[in-house]
Amino acid sequence: MATMSSAEPTRRDFLYIATGVVAATGALAATWPLISQMNPDASTIAAGAPIEVDLSPIAEGQVIKVFWRSKPIFIGHRNKKEIDAARAVDWHTLPDPQPDQKRVKEGHDQWLVLIGICTHLGCIPIAHQGEYDGFFCPCHGSQYDTSGRIRRGPAPLNLELPPYEFVTDNKIKIG
Ligand code: FES
Repeated sequence: MATMSSAEPTRRDFLYIATGVVAATGALAATWPLISQMNPDASTIAAGAPIEVDLSPIAEGQVIKVFWRSKPIFIGHRNKKEIDAARAVDWHTLPDPQPDQKRVKEGHDQWLVLIGICTHLGCIPIAHQGEYDGFFCPCHGSQYDTSGRIRRGPAPLNLELPPYEFVTDNKIKIG
């Protein structure tokens, strides 16, 4: 007569293991409400709730990325050279003509806030790359300037601006 090897789990062992898993899940579920109270609910963020971003840690010349509505948002703290470069060009001659002044908030010219999605086929460009030291899309080579305007390559339009406002000089609300 065949006997069951002791290494093989019996039905009783399986039930025991399953109970252990439920207990572990229960413990996780108990800690989750505490964690979730400290952060905005993920579904709320995905649904488009506004987000606030503290600008004070962003050094001059630095570009950071945050997410709003699941989209990457670039926030660039431009230095004088970058602002001057964006304003030196005759914007009427650009593929998607727009003055730099219309792409930033008045009195906050150093802050560039963009949706970081290439207007060609949706790749995420890289900051401080390319011929214009703005943004370079590695997918098909589109080059954007320090205002996020398309200057060269297949992308038809400038990088889009998200809706945002300054709450204080050092804080913006996106959305
Ligand atoms: S997706 Fe950026 S150049 Fe094609």
